[in-house]
Amino acid sequence: MDLRPVDSVNTAFEHYKNIIPDFSLFQESLKVLFPVHLRINGLLATPSKVVAALKKKGICLKRVSREYNTLYMAENLPYPGNLLEYFLGYIHPQALTSALAAMALKPLKNTFVLDMCAAPGGKSAHLADLMENTGFMVCNDLYTNRHVPLGHTLSRLGVQNSVVTGYQAQEFPLRHQFDFILADVPCSCEGKFRIEPKGIPYREDKGKVQLPEIQKKILLRGFDLLKENGEMLYATCTYNPAENESVVNFLLNERDAELLPIDLGVVFEPGLSEWNHETYDRRLTRTARFYPHRIDSVGFFMARIGRK
Ligand SMILES: C[S@@+](CC[C@H](N)C(=O)[O-])C[C@H]1O[C@@H](n2cnc3c(N)ncnc32)[C@H](O)[C@@H]1O
Repeated sequence: MDLRPVDSVNTAFEHYKNIIPDFSLFQESLKVLFPVHLRINGLLATPSKVVAALKKKGICLKRVSREYNTLYMAENLPYPGNLLEYFLGYIHPQALTSALAAMALKPLKNTFVLDMCAAPGGKSAHLADLMENTGFMVCNDLYTNRHVPLGHTLSRLGVQNSVVTGYQAQEFPLRHQFDFILADVPCSCEGKFRIEPKGIPYREDKGKVQLPEIQKKILLRGFDLLKENGEMLYATCTYNPAENESVVNFLLNERDAELLPIDLGVVFEPGLSEWNHETYDRRLTRTARFYPHRIDSVGFFMARIGRK
């Protein structure tokens, strides 16, 4: 595999200059560290009590939006994993955009849910929280070594409605159908890039070329696993249209899928209608692109898909 480190945030994403709005602000946002965001875990804690307990420790939690009383930005908290509240499962440090994925899927109580690529489990635990530990959730991840952190996350956060499986998501057995499915697929992770030391170094990676093929297979299998009127969320943490709109466009060509509106009460941009001489289905503008200079979190993409 040919890995080519890109040293400068000023050159890393030049090829997206025409699709990322306010590109110079976007570049500036990559030069500052990520803020710490926390989700308060409703399965074991109540937001007001956690906010008060952390305030006593000199940690100020600020709500990210009026819509959610469980998502906060933390000030004066460089290492949230050292807090007692972390070990007790009251809080889970999570990128804001990651937390919004479960909010966008919004699984209902007493439903049958599949998380196709679940480890290390932050989003699975959030889905269980929204389901209030009812129903049944299958947390799948191909790599068994990643089942260890996945199991720890589920156990620490008090999840009791789930099992862990280790299938290739694109070959997940078609024996059962699900009401809600999350496909938080392996991707090039471009959205996690910020300048070092805290950000990850961005690398041009030829392996990226194969990712869209795997992502298309996972999305197609996920759709085929949905019950009638079931809903699915396709998510990546990359800006790359070949892993985002192009993958969802493939599904729309292959299946009678609907693109459902995403209503989160935070700022995002609509999905693209074209890229690199490829024109996408007009409905792709219902997908959501999250940029760090708009939301101060990991760059992200979401498509909410319905089965008629
Ligand atoms: C973006 S991460 C998922 C993060 C997770 N949803 C969370 O919020 O903690 C993608 C995951 O997909 C898993 N994975 C990679 N290829 C896979 C495949 N073909 N089938 C199932 N899981 C796969 C990786 O092990 C990785 O844990």
